[in-house]
Amino acid sequence: MDAEIRRIAINTGGGDAPGLNAVIRATVLAARRRGWEVVGIRKGYHGLLQGDGVIPLRRADVRGIAHQGGTILGTTNRGNPFEWPMRESDGSTTLYDRSGEVMERFRNLGLDALVAIGGDGSMKIASRFAELGMPVVGVPKTIDNDLEGTVTTFGFHTAVSIASDAVGRLHSTAEAHDRVFVIEVMGRYAGWIALHAGIAGGADAILIPEIPYSIESVCEKVRQREMRGRHFSVVVIAEGARESEGEISTLGAAAPGEAVRLGGAGHKLAQEIGQRTGKETRTVVLGHLQRAGGPVAYDRVIAQRFGAAAVKVIARREFSVMVALDPPDILTVPLSEVSGRMKCVPLDSDTVESVREMGICLGD
Ligand code: F6P
Repeated sequence: MDAEIRRIAINTGGGDAPGLNAVIRATVLAARRRGWEVVGIRKGYHGLLQGDGVIPLRRADVRGIAHQGGTILGTTNRGNPFEWPMRESDGSTTLYDRSGEVMERFRNLGLDALVAIGGDGSMKIASRFAELGMPVVGVPKTIDNDLEGTVTTFGFHTAVSIASDAVGRLHSTAEAHDRVFVIEVMGRYAGWIALHAGIAGGADAILIPEIPYSIESVCEKVRQREMRGRHFSVVVIAEGARESEGEISTLGAAAPGEAVRLGGAGHKLAQEIGQRTGKETRTVVLGHLQRAGGPVAYDRVIAQRFGAAAVKVIARREFSVMVALDPPDILTVPLSEVSGRMKCVPLDSDTVESVREMGICLGD
């Protein structure tokens, strides 16, 4: 069965996440063991649309990279070949469908399969290429942990670890100055990072997109702590969190072909807390630090399990699927069931219930 596969490609799409290089390494090692040739496509699908964008990936090319951050292949979140942004002479941007060119180059390169490593956007693109006949296997990446079909994505645990450390550290400076700290974390429209970092870092309030919050409820928490002699508070807010009657905070409109950028939720909340409680309130936006640098051990392991699993899946010629963690196993789920869906924090989950049990404010 293996003899039918000779040459496979790997690409990494969307925002980077710690563990991308670990997946690449595992995929290359497992594929080379079967005698397959492996190439890397630079910057998502860019590499298939330009001359020098396809590079060989031999064992030596992936030596010692599992612990490194970023991706040796480069990535982009402006690389959807079905909606390729091109600048016109008048300065405007038009979106072109270049999927046909991608399919043609893929065939001309003699590729038997693509391992597409990415988040929801990348899985959507992979699913569309699968419909056009490309043999694709997806690998679930994102610090946001918002991909359907898998218990976890790689990158998430690293982001939580970085954010928890920051939340924990801010306690001492908050206490020293009797201040309130509002820490804004990433996660887009899901509250996984905020919830986990908030619990691990000992936050007094955790605000997630799944539970629209009331500013009064957060201020009440600050006041209660004040009355108990705790003259500081630490609030974690997800970038996608919003007030019950409010809108999600964004950094302007999305450019053509790009997702809207979220940001500002922390500043907005801090201002309100300061005004209503009279407490000096500061904001820390953790931003891209959450996905910078190498993966924690958990992500190194899960990323390499995903990479090895992708090769096994290709070997049995199962395509149009994404490898997924269903502990203790790695299974596959159809790309069509993943793409366009979002895994939010379930409000009846034990994690959310535990937060309530402990009296941590969820803003409702
Ligand atoms: O999806 C990962 C993520 O880091 C989100 O948490 C965040 O909203 C977004 O990407 C930021 O994207 P960019 O790097 O394009 O600003």
